[in-house]
Amino acid sequence: MVSLAQFHPIPGSILQNNYSILQNGCICLFVKQFSLLHSIAINLSFMYCVQTRQLSHSFSSHAAVLQQINLQVPTGSIYGFLGPNGAGKTTTLRLLLGLVKKQQGEILIFDKPLEKNRVGILKQTGSLIESPSLYGHLTAMENLALLQKIYRCPRKNMLEVLHLVGLENTGNKKTGQFSLGMKQRLGIALALLHNPELLVLDEPTNGLDPNGMIEIRSLLLKLNQQQGITILLSSHLLAEIEKLVSHVGVINKGAMMFQGTLEALKNKQQENVSIVFETNNISQTMQVIRDNNLVPEMAEGKVIIPAASKNITAKIIQQLINNGIEVYEAGIIKNDLETIFMDLINK
Ligand SMILES: Nc1ncnc2c1ncn2[C@@H]1O[C@H](COP(=O)(O)OP(=O)(O)OP(=O)(O)O)[C@@H](O)[C@H]1O
Ligand SMILES: [Mg+2]
Repeated sequence: MVSLAQFHPIPGSILQNNYSILQNGCICLFVKQFSLLHSIAINLSFMYCVQTRQLSHSFSSHAAVLQQINLQVPTGSIYGFLGPNGAGKTTTLRLLLGLVKKQQGEILIFDKPLEKNRVGILKQTGSLIESPSLYGHLTAMENLALLQKIYRCPRKNMLEVLHLVGLENTGNKKTGQFSLGMKQRLGIALALLHNPELLVLDEPTNGLDPNGMIEIRSLLLKLNQQQGITILLSSHLLAEIEKLVSHVGVINKGAMMFQGTLEALKNKQQENVSIVFETNNISQTMQVIRDNNLVPEMAEGKVIIPAASKNITAKIIQQLINNGIEVYEAGIIKNDLETIFMDLINK
């Protein structure tokens, strides 16, 4: 039996002829449909793997480091938490893991309040905050073995995660002699050891060379796509995670400036487009544009106007030609993602 309200968003066709409403307002489902509905119900209740409500924090009495953060990390997503240095990314992630004591607001992970369920939540969560804590005099396997005993997870997991991050051949090499990239990969292996459902990674590609970044990105994509792990990772570079994430949250000075799908962020590229004209006569070109009630600007010998309809653009081109002006170029300038990101953090 399941509450009717729980199934409200499910299309009628799924329920049609397959349930009976009991007196107490609950629906009893025929077995055939139950597993489908059950899985939908689970997905609905875990729509957000991580959620914060009005999360605020300050380290001292005067400056608020986080202001009313409403983070929504969809289950199964790769969520890029973006912001410049000092924006509040690490503080937010530390709060989510209970490493910093929450002061104001709510934190829900797997739909449960963190405070009352911290141990259970952490059993299902792997994390790497800033750089991994490794015992430099021990090998990768020995570092893993220490954690394996704490988690009491199967020993076979150690080889599996080492293989996953490409460190299976490091043998007797002490981790103190590992490169930055190898340490970072081992940090991710440690975070994966207990088969978590959620990975929280603070700048996982920090300090890596382009090759190392590509390797970590493809590893994270594999974990998300093949094992369904929800990944929340922070970065201060959009370009670094653009090819990886499905969702984006942009934070600046402790406030959320944007949150949504990468697609929604990209749609902002369509906004604020400009049109550029290159002609043999700038002053006359500017006059033609002014005659159309538009305000032209000049940059690098070209004339730029804010977004205009196709009709207006065609009309301007026609008028330029009618005035004997040679038009070399008439094109659209779209904002690149980085510009949109910079606009968001400079608001
Ligand atoms: N333990 C602390 N005590 C006092 N202030 C702190 C502490 N930790 C962080 N802060 C302050 O909180 C603000 C946010 O820091 P945080 O480390 O969360 O930023 P960040 O977005 O992770 O930056 P970065 O990209 O440099 O890692 C900064 O102004 C920082 O100085
Ligand atoms: Mg940080």
